[in-house]
Amino acid sequence: MNNKPKLTTTGGAPIADNQNSITAGPRGPVLLQDYQLIEKLAHQNRERIAERVVHAKGWGAFGTLTIEHDISKYTKAKVLQPGAQTEMIARFSTVAGEAGAADAERDVRGFALKFYTEEGNWDLVGNNTPVFFVRDAYKFPDFIHTQKRHPRTNLRSPTAMWDFWSLSPESLHQVTILFSDRGLPISVRHINGYGSHTFSLINDQNERFWVKFHFKTEQGHKHWTNEEAEQVVGKTRESTQEDLFYAIEKGDFPKWKFQVQIMPETDADLTPYNPFDLTKVWPHSDYPCIDVGTMELNRNPDNYFAEIEQASFSPSNIVPGIGFSPDKMLQARIFSYADAHRHRLGTHYESLPVNAPKCPVHHYHKDGAMCFKSNGTNSDAYYEPNSFNGPVEQPDVAEPPLKISGDADRYDHREGNDDYAQPRALFNLFDDGQKARLFSNIAAAMQGVPDEIVERQLKHFELVDPAYAAGVREALKG
Ligand code: NDP
Ligand code: HEM
Repeated sequence: MNNKPKLTTTGGAPIADNQNSITAGPRGPVLLQDYQLIEKLAHQNRERIAERVVHAKGWGAFGTLTIEHDISKYTKAKVLQPGAQTEMIARFSTVAGEAGAADAERDVRGFALKFYTEEGNWDLVGNNTPVFFVRDAYKFPDFIHTQKRHPRTNLRSPTAMWDFWSLSPESLHQVTILFSDRGLPISVRHINGYGSHTFSLINDQNERFWVKFHFKTEQGHKHWTNEEAEQVVGKTRESTQEDLFYAIEKGDFPKWKFQVQIMPETDADLTPYNPFDLTKVWPHSDYPCIDVGTMELNRNPDNYFAEIEQASFSPSNIVPGIGFSPDKMLQARIFSYADAHRHRLGTHYESLPVNAPKCPVHHYHKDGAMCFKSNGTNSDAYYEPNSFNGPVEQPDVAEPPLKISGDADRYDHREGNDDYAQPRALFNLFDDGQKARLFSNIAAAMQGVPDEIVERQLKHFELVDPAYAAGVREALKG
């Protein structure tokens, strides 16, 4: 009994009674002076923070990234040098559901990684799919509105989804993945992760290469059918949390093979597709996957809220040797995430232990809500430039110029883009069973959608492959 920690108020004062509030007599009303009761109720009122506007339901764990192969001719990033082992956190998620949504839902899975490198945090905020539904960020909020609840019914709306998709043929590639077997994984241990966008790697000669990042599951791909998922959700809404948490708890650590595809900088003008278009992959036959290392998750968080709910990932977090690309979706995401975190968590979200870099941090930002930054030993250097030995810039990490050109305009992103060839390549990978499930998954998701929208979508499937449209049409009859 005596070894137990002493219960205190948040101010540190000992609490004598945590069972009975202070009342005027045993039956009487509560006194306003019972600040301990008030503190407890007030804290409870503030337990929830804004949930992520997308990817609200998530699961996460800590681990390591180990580099086993030499890609130093492409990048000087210390995190990617042979033998480097870097602590990291992963947060996986579904996109559309709220924080309490069931896990076994057909949806894209988020695959967000934060590597605590000695040169700062490197975040790779990807998905389990190599492509996305839209290629211009201008359409992202519209797309997300179709995935969330209808403003009047407060229900998800298949009509809105198929209306938007059928009017946005660039979505076909991702739609085909979503309704294929991989659209409903049994757990995040059984998915691949993709950085999806094209990024840069920069070597010690300051040469730029375009790169795509891939994480291939070593647990094998495993999926539920729609019918199996219905059974699962009937029994537990937390199937992924259970699977990931208990696998790690019992020492069965999930691993992913880390690979890159590399494109020489000047190839970008030569490919038949735009290599910065997020609705396209780079075919492996043109740009093979190169082994880099292994990612392993081996530690569960101690406090889900502090470490997973408050984890904040941003594509703007890059380190020397890794850079961006002209992908317009990536450009928008570089802005959007830190803005979301300042809203969701506050100005100093990067001071929270889960987000804090594990390398020295020196900047001249000042004050703001919940600031607990120390002035260190040098409180005179609070502006820049200064004569008081404050932190100085490091010109040696400057990137080579990013070549861009063109007249500023709103260019039609659909012009000159083949939205059908790559979905066709994917469709042709599927065996008869996979195709049959693709057709029936789509037909099930189209229930109640007006005929004209269904017909518009079927025309797109027809342009991918007549068998695709015919299969869905047949499944719609059943
Ligand atoms: P490859 O035959 O070399 O590669 C096919 C890829 O498809 C593999 O990476 C495989 O993943 C993946 N795949 C298999 N089934 C599915 C599915 N149901 N949903 C999503 N991906 C799946 O062909 P290409 O590189 O020429 O690409 C052909 C098509 O494959 C593309 O149009 C694209 O849709 C898809 N794909 C391509 C990727 C790429 O980076 N090139 C990455 C992922 C998909 P795994 O290796 O894990 O089995
Ligand atoms: C989460 C914006 C496209 C992957 C989020 C969040 C925002 C956002 C605001 C919530 C962040 C938070 O509150 O913590 C956007 C915008 C996009 C876009 C504006 C398009 C321009 C994408 C794409 C991918 C992606 C293409 C994957 C390739 C994720 C993931 C999360 C997320 C994985 C969850 C991160 C976590 O686990 O905390 N996105 N997104 N997003 N997004 Fe995007």
